[in-house]
Amino acid sequence: MNGSVLTLDDIAAADREDFRREVLAGLAQKARAIPARFLYDARGSALFDEICELPEYYLTRTETRILAERAPEIARLAGPHPALVEFGSGSSVKSRLLLDAIGDLAAYAPIDISREHLEASAARLRRDYPGLNVEPVCGDYMTLERLPHMGADGRHLGFFPGSTVGNLEPADATAFLRRARRLLGDDGALVLGVDLRKDARVLHDAYNDAAGVTAAFTLNLLRRMNRELHASFDLDGFAHEAFYNEGEGRIEIYVRSLRDQQVNVAGRSFGFARGERVHTEYSYKYDLPGIEALARSGGFRIGALWTDPERLFAVAYLEAACTK
Ligand code: TRP
Repeated sequence: MNGSVLTLDDIAAADREDFRREVLAGLAQKARAIPARFLYDARGSALFDEICELPEYYLTRTETRILAERAPEIARLAGPHPALVEFGSGSSVKSRLLLDAIGDLAAYAPIDISREHLEASAARLRRDYPGLNVEPVCGDYMTLERLPHMGADGRHLGFFPGSTVGNLEPADATAFLRRARRLLGDDGALVLGVDLRKDARVLHDAYNDAAGVTAAFTLNLLRRMNRELHASFDLDGFAHEAFYNEGEGRIEIYVRSLRDQQVNVAGRSFGFARGERVHTEYSYKYDLPGIEALARSGGFRIGALWTDPERLFAVAYLEAACTK
């Protein structure tokens, strides 16, 4: 056995240790919080796929429609022989719209933190696009230092869909864009999906669906702690809570304790008061000036911006701005 090769068991053990450490640190804080990335275990990822199909969750379907309609224009703006770089590729469904529209793509580099997702989706893409040079990058796009050499003589075209930028705090969103700007280069461009500010009711319903799928998704965090960290959460003792904070322009998502209770997690005991919340995620919503300011803060300018007729969602084509 080569000692430097990580087995799947090693990776699972390291992931569990990371989860344990983050949960214990997050629950020890005064304002309790657990990072949103832990929502996406196998069951969480399946539930999130279900969220994307919900009637109330307009984001996925609206963005997909905009991309389907504008993909030829994006391909034209990108110019000849671009390399497509996807930040956080997941299952790469939306990227296929761009792969199909860009006939002379030099390479496709999906970046994802989950090696399992990455390998599975790279295999599917190689099967479906036999001539395409697929260069998967396993890593965290918030800290990634460089892209693989892809031999593209065209520009690097980044892709960050799903309004995932909205799940970053504004300072982190700027830091992400700066990093993307550096990775993509002076000639780079970035296709960015952004959810727009709108009627509070519409936003509220998108994160509080009638079928309760979003609640199951949030509460899956407790199930995961029960399973992986020997925790004793009573799933009936907590509820999903999501609301639109108009002043901050963001949806806030929490797990809320329905009564005073004591819970064991990884050998420690934590008291939860009735009404106490554990934060899991923010989802920032932008208006057009906000998108412009965000782009500028990251070293980009807006080359084009498309929305749906109801102005629910925006897809922006950002071009690297001159840094001098
Ligand atoms: N990127 C998604 C969003 O901000 C993530 C998301 C959707 C989410 N529904 C959720 C996160 C519910 C936590 C809970 O829309």
